[in-house]
Amino acid sequence: MFLGLGWLVFLTFGIVGLYGPIVRYGPNRYSINDPHAAKTIYGLGAQFAKSSWYSTWGPPGRWTIFADQNVHRHAQNRRMYQNTYSMSSLISYEPYVDECTDLFSDRLRELSQAGQSVDMGRWFQNYAFDVIGLITYSRRLGFLDQGEDIGGVISALENHLTYATLVGIFPWLHPICHFVQNRLLGGERGKGREYVLKFTLEQMAAFKAAPKSMPSNVEIEQSETVVESFLSKFQSKHSSEPGSFTQYHIQVGCAANMVAGSDTTAISLTAILYYLLSHPASLEKLRKEVDSSFQDGKLSTKPTFKESQSMPYLQAVIKEALRMHPATGLPLERVVPPGGATIAGRFFPEGTVVGINSWVEHRNTHIFGPDAGTFRPERWLDADSDQLSLMNRHWMPFGLGSRTCIGRHISMLEITKLVPRILRDFDFAIVEPIDSSKGIFNTHNMWFVKPSDFQVRLGLRAQSSQ
Ligand code: HEM
Repeated sequence: MFLGLGWLVFLTFGIVGLYGPIVRYGPNRYSINDPHAAKTIYGLGAQFAKSSWYSTWGPPGRWTIFADQNVHRHAQNRRMYQNTYSMSSLISYEPYVDECTDLFSDRLRELSQAGQSVDMGRWFQNYAFDVIGLITYSRRLGFLDQGEDIGGVISALENHLTYATLVGIFPWLHPICHFVQNRLLGGERGKGREYVLKFTLEQMAAFKAAPKSMPSNVEIEQSETVVESFLSKFQSKHSSEPGSFTQYHIQVGCAANMVAGSDTTAISLTAILYYLLSHPASLEKLRKEVDSSFQDGKLSTKPTFKESQSMPYLQAVIKEALRMHPATGLPLERVVPPGGATIAGRFFPEGTVVGINSWVEHRNTHIFGPDAGTFRPERWLDADSDQLSLMNRHWMPFGLGSRTCIGRHISMLEITKLVPRILRDFDFAIVEPIDSSKGIFNTHNMWFVKPSDFQVRLGLRAQSSQ
């Protein structure tokens, strides 16, 4: 069991283990651990709206794509964003990701030469923030350049996570707490999400004032293949459909990228590295795949997304690490619609809050087998087609159904390009001796299950491409 997980995850695991598939963890709130429940709650056509807990993830009284509790409005809005986030559209951003992986590798090289240990969780977040900045505004925000929290936005995000997670339990407090936090305590810039929103608006204003004055290196080097940023795409959509895709939609889209686009990817990258370092046999197997792909010319110096798709063990490791450590660690709460619903053999009337915690689902032995609690990437390669399809249906690091993560392809692009490259070029060793039977990996759960101070020592590999 991981140390330091938030009380809700612990409570859910512990009690589910002891008391069966339905756990009441608050008034009218139930966490479900039953292989049939996912389809009922999140399945196609299910009309289970998000619970009031989500209201604190946006400004009081206004919708955001992530927090919207209105099923119909959410579906309408989501359709308008969908294309921009599709995999086919995201492939064009590979040069942006390469630009950041180059810089990330440079930084790791410097740090390895300095012989310092490194908080890899933080460096992965610097990487993810710069990628999302480039994709959103065609501008690297400078996290990798400076190696620090630019504009204090990472700490503002941490503040937002704590606020939204805790105030969300008493959502009627949100308008008051939001006022106190931002108007009385937060100064001119506000705190938490309000601060991140100001940061977002500044980036948007800078882009609007001088879109051409902030090229990334990619645009300088490959001036014929200028990649259109999300912001530019949002603006074009607004120009052609000003009535339905408003200025507010542009703001919500950019803010969502800032809020959801860095922590989650960084957590997932950290989990992948942690599980590999604490399972040397898996690391060795993946290294062999990476090295031989590189030597056979099947993996470029800057690995492409397409190349990474032909590396089965890499794909299995990513899936398995995200199964063991999904970035969100609370039940994905939904409200039972009119007519009620029978879940795990029990009838829940309309208005009951029910949800599945991906940490619980991912350790269900009826789905993932008797060793569900063990990191074993081979499960994704050895399973027969029925077993594989069962596991895939219940693999939910990105959520499930109509509210599934809209940004997942961005993350997968970043992860699948970065992991083979750093494994090829660097050696990593966890600074504290690690006992994988206890799984010592300190985390903090405020919706995102964030690793804290994951210190790693770096070395350059002989295999390194540079
Ligand atoms: C490995 C990385 C990521 C993980 C594990 C992750 C996880 C999730 C999960 C579990 C949900 C569903 C939450 C729920 O049902 O309550 C979600 C929704 C969402 N994610 Fe992600 N996410 C990741 C990356 C991103 C990125 C890069 C972006 C944006 C650039 C993003 C934007 C969103 C948005 C806007 C939603 C709400 C979608 C909706 O309600 O329609 N995520 N994410």
